[in-house]
Amino acid sequence: MRKSNEKGDNMNGNSCTLVIFGGTGDLTHRKLIPALYNLEHDSNLSENFAVVTIGRRDYTDQEYREELKQSTKSFSRFSLNESTWEKLQNRLYYKKLDFTNKDNYCELNNYLLTIDNLHQTGSNRIYYLAVAPEYFANIVDSLRSDCMKVPHAFERVVIEKPFGRDLESATFLNNKIVNAFTEANTYRIDHYLGKEMLQNIMVIRFANIFFEPLWNNKYIEQVQISSNETIGVETRGEYYEKSGAIRDMLQSHMFQLLSLITMEKPNDLSPTSIRDEKVKVLKELKNKNVVRGQYEGYRQEKRVADDSNTETFVALKVEVDNQRWKGVPFYIRTGKKMPKKSTEIVIKFNKSDNLLYDSTHLSDNLLVIKVQPMEGVFFQFNAKKPGTQHKIIPVQMDFCQNCQVGINSPEAYERLLFDVMRGDQTLFARWDEVEYSWKFVDHIIEKWIKEEPHFPNYKTGTWGPIEADELLTEDNHEWINLEGDL
Ligand SMILES: NC(=O)c1ccc[n+]([C@@H]2O[C@H](COP(=O)([O-])OP(=O)(O)OC[C@H]3O[C@@H](n4cnc5c(N)ncnc54)[C@H](OP(=O)(O)O)[C@@H]3O)[C@@H](O)[C@H]2O)c1
Repeated sequence: MRKSNEKGDNMNGNSCTLVIFGGTGDLTHRKLIPALYNLEHDSNLSENFAVVTIGRRDYTDQEYREELKQSTKSFSRFSLNESTWEKLQNRLYYKKLDFTNKDNYCELNNYLLTIDNLHQTGSNRIYYLAVAPEYFANIVDSLRSDCMKVPHAFERVVIEKPFGRDLESATFLNNKIVNAFTEANTYRIDHYLGKEMLQNIMVIRFANIFFEPLWNNKYIEQVQISSNETIGVETRGEYYEKSGAIRDMLQSHMFQLLSLITMEKPNDLSPTSIRDEKVKVLKELKNKNVVRGQYEGYRQEKRVADDSNTETFVALKVEVDNQRWKGVPFYIRTGKKMPKKSTEIVIKFNKSDNLLYDSTHLSDNLLVIKVQPMEGVFFQFNAKKPGTQHKIIPVQMDFCQNCQVGINSPEAYERLLFDVMRGDQTLFARWDEVEYSWKFVDHIIEKWIKEEPHFPNYKTGTWGPIEADELLTEDNHEWINLEGDL
């Protein structure tokens, strides 16, 4: 096991060689290299930094750089500046190599040592696995081989999503990783955690005196967490057939949102304290009801089986079984081909009987955290309508983060790459978080297989099957779909 830099601290600034497996792939083109360009633009890359990407296609460094320049032009949040690109491309290399063949790793290491020396990276390495999940374990095994051992270096591994497809496969992969790297050097990507508003949830909760006292079952009636897309599976049919909404979204992104909203105040801002609190919540989750659905026309999509039983929508009610949250329903839903693209958390407060005004005439107090595509916070409260009549109306305060930073809000991958380089694990999933969320999801899927093999379709452009509404009407609640861009 590599024990270097157990604490995950970055002892050498961000001097390192970033080795991207999957250098010719979609993620590298659309996200990783544009994110590195943005970091270069903001002078966030060390002088002693280099990138080596690996693929099977034939490219010279120059051809590869030219192709990546075009992707960066298309996908960076900044327009391409020639001298900034020049700086990045001068430390960008392409290595053609079949990563499934263990024998190739001595050659790879020799090549990396040349680059390490050229850019004086201190032989620090980050291995980023931007490849199909079936290769994760194989590559991690090969990275353990004797040829890859480099003295006096930190070595970190970044694993893309999905981390397994159930608890068993996730445990298998994790065992491979802990054989080669320590937990402190393992970075499991959940790119939602890199989103600005997810990082903001903790600030909103713990940097404001007025939210924390109300953040419990005495004052909160219900919480709704939604992440919806208007598009279908498009070109991702093959991947989606093996995952579906519950594995693709619920196990990772939705549970991260839920745990940030419900966790107790951490002792401090260290990654360990924050992740300790998040995982406690995942252990306390109780499942109530689950509804799934498939959009009409899904089976006709490319690379989707004619008789596919993959869900493109899932909605569920859960409870967090602790003193703070006992009795508060958390309604979660995520789906494709919905009427609106949005990820948001709606917190609906109780209508107290202790108010001076008759609560039946008051509007709901709502706090909405808007994650994407709009970023911001919306708050609805009651106020007097101007005029001679004493009429109370709902009014809204709407903090629009996009309006302030425009479309130039930093991309999730930019923040995540930066954090790996400086050894900050806060925005990455720890193994026990992954473990407990898979346990929860496995339980639901087992029940589906045994007891509920059939499930409803829903029309495209609707909020999913009618059963998803019934999930809430049983509790005399309904989904809160805010209008417009809220
Ligand atoms: N794309 C996204 O937006 C996105 C979003 C979230 C998560 N992810 C995750 O990121 C990972 C990568 O996704 P992707 O969409 O970028 O995949 P992709 O476009 O299919 O790219 C796969 C890469 O792996 C390389 N490769 C495959 N077998 C190889 C071998 N034996 N030796 C060397 N290279 C090999 C390919 O190289 P050649 O083509 O040169 O053979 C290519 O560069 C996946 O785990 C995915 O779940 C992707």
